[in-house]
Amino acid sequence: MAFFEWNSAFDVGVDAMNQQHQILIGMMDKLYNQNSANIPKNQLIKNVDELFLFVVKHFREEETFMASISFPNLEAHKKLHQNLLNDLKILGDDFKQNHEEKLSSEFIIFLKFWLSTHIIGIDNKYGIYAKQTGLMPLQNV
Ligand SMILES: [Fe+2]
Repeated sequence: MAFFEWNSAFDVGVDAMNQQHQILIGMMDKLYNQNSANIPKNQLIKNVDELFLFVVKHFREEETFMASISFPNLEAHKKLHQNLLNDLKILGDDFKQNHEEKLSSEFIIFLKFWLSTHIIGIDNKYGIYAKQTGLMPLQNV
């Protein structure tokens, strides 16, 4: 079993977001495996940067989706995204500047924690809201 793997517990009830979460989890798993495989630091940095850019894009699209269904907790959810991005940036910058060849366990734990709490505990709320209100208009965000 992969260290980071999408399963039905991550289902937020919105196909487009599930697809992006699957890509995101795949990128985290790739990063984890390459980190374990002792690949050169510059390659790890490249993957960290790719992950960051994907997260920026994903959060933007998730926020567009939530706005499209008039999700009432949009502003609070945006703040959580901003906090996650800030933390990811700090961890990434630290790795770039320090002398370690591998990502810190703090970095890996952050990714795991993010997965279990944000996608399962937070993102699923817009899916529940979309279902309750019958609003599921965007298939192409
Ligand atoms: Fe989110």
